Amino acid sequence: MLSKNAFGVDLGTSVVKIYSLRKNRLLSEHDMIAVMGGSQVIAVGNDAYEMFEKNPPGILVDRPMVSGRIADVAEVEMLLKLLLRKTDRHSSSRPLIYFSAPMNMSELEKRAYYAISDAGNPKSPRVFLVDRPICDAISLGIPITRTKGSMILDIGAQSTEVSVIAGEQVIVSDSLPIGGQQLNEAVANEIRRERNLLIGSRTARRLKISLATFLTGGKEERRVTGIDTLAGLPREEVITSDLVNRAVEAELRKGAEAMRTFLERTPPQLSGSIMNEGIYLTGGTARIPGIERYLCRMIGCRINLSRDYEFSTIKGLEELMQHKELRRWAHSIKGKR
Ligand SMILES: Nc1ncnc2c1ncn2[C@@H]1O[C@H](COP(=O)(O)OP(=O)(O)OP(=O)(O)O)[C@@H](O)[C@H]1O
Ligand SMILES: [Mg+2]
Repeated sequence: MLSKNAFGVDLGTSVVKIYSLRKNRLLSEHDMIAVMGGSQVIAVGNDAYEMFEKNPPGILVDRPMVSGRIADVAEVEMLLKLLLRKTDRHSSSRPLIYFSAPMNMSELEKRAYYAISDAGNPKSPRVFLVDRPICDAISLGIPITRTKGSMILDIGAQSTEVSVIAGEQVIVSDSLPIGGQQLNEAVANEIRRERNLLIGSRTARRLKISLATFLTGGKEERRVTGIDTLAGLPREEVITSDLVNRAVEAELRKGAEAMRTFLERTPPQLSGSIMNEGIYLTGGTARIPGIERYLCRMIGCRINLSRDYEFSTIKGLEELMQHKELRRWAHSIKGKR
């Protein structure tokens, strides 16, 4: 039986998801930290996101993860410490932590996962890493021990992790530079080009979430305020779903082409099984309505859409923590004191 003082942590580029076994509770917060004077933490998570692009001088609001990997160890350590406490404030000083981990990590990166869990504890923490595609596969119901080739696309915040599982492990994996942030930028760029209006990335994200769709017939619009690029003054504009869809489609097309190339390069003994099963699609960006039909057409393969979207990785970790037979995919790591 696993100690109840255990957490599952999925450090996403845009959203941190934490599962507490004792509380059977899932916390999901923006992966952001607001720091003053280089070391004084002002806010973390959703509170820090509220300050993003509005922060006064002297306060830095930062995302400490880049493309699914730890970019600033000290910032992630502070963020994690506070969010673990928020998830279960009765947790003792030596929790068990299961992290979903990116593929192809160096020894230095692995040690960073240990360092962020340490947080000055008097006793050594117990830290386990589970490959992210394995977490996704568990929640997607892929039979990891039997599959002869299953492909997963996790379209997240800044990258798409494309992986193939066979022989009980991840055998091929690549990180493609397409995710929610690139789509936000594409929307903001299109509005600047067509309407001479400068909008922030939070506004672009809101437009994408409320208007982007690959289904036909979605004719909606939203009013936004930005800065006129010629006059330099605030101005309102009505943005249509047509404009947002154009920007999103042009950006996603590049990603879809890279996904098709990845599939074409997959050895035939695996691709046969993948084509039979269909490709599994997950991640927060997979919430765009109709994206599975679009990718099916572009890649030329049936797509199985996860119903857990951005929560599929953490749900896989949660299942792994609850079922002993799945914990064979968790690898213990040790750090240096
Ligand atoms: N309804 C929606 N429509 C479109 N995009 C969405 C929607 N909801 C969330 N997103 C996008 O999903 C992304 C976050 O997805 P997710 O939580 O899977 O990423 P992450 O785990 O933080 O990042 P990564 O796995 O790439 O490190 C954000 O870019 C967000 O804008
Ligand atoms: Mg993710």
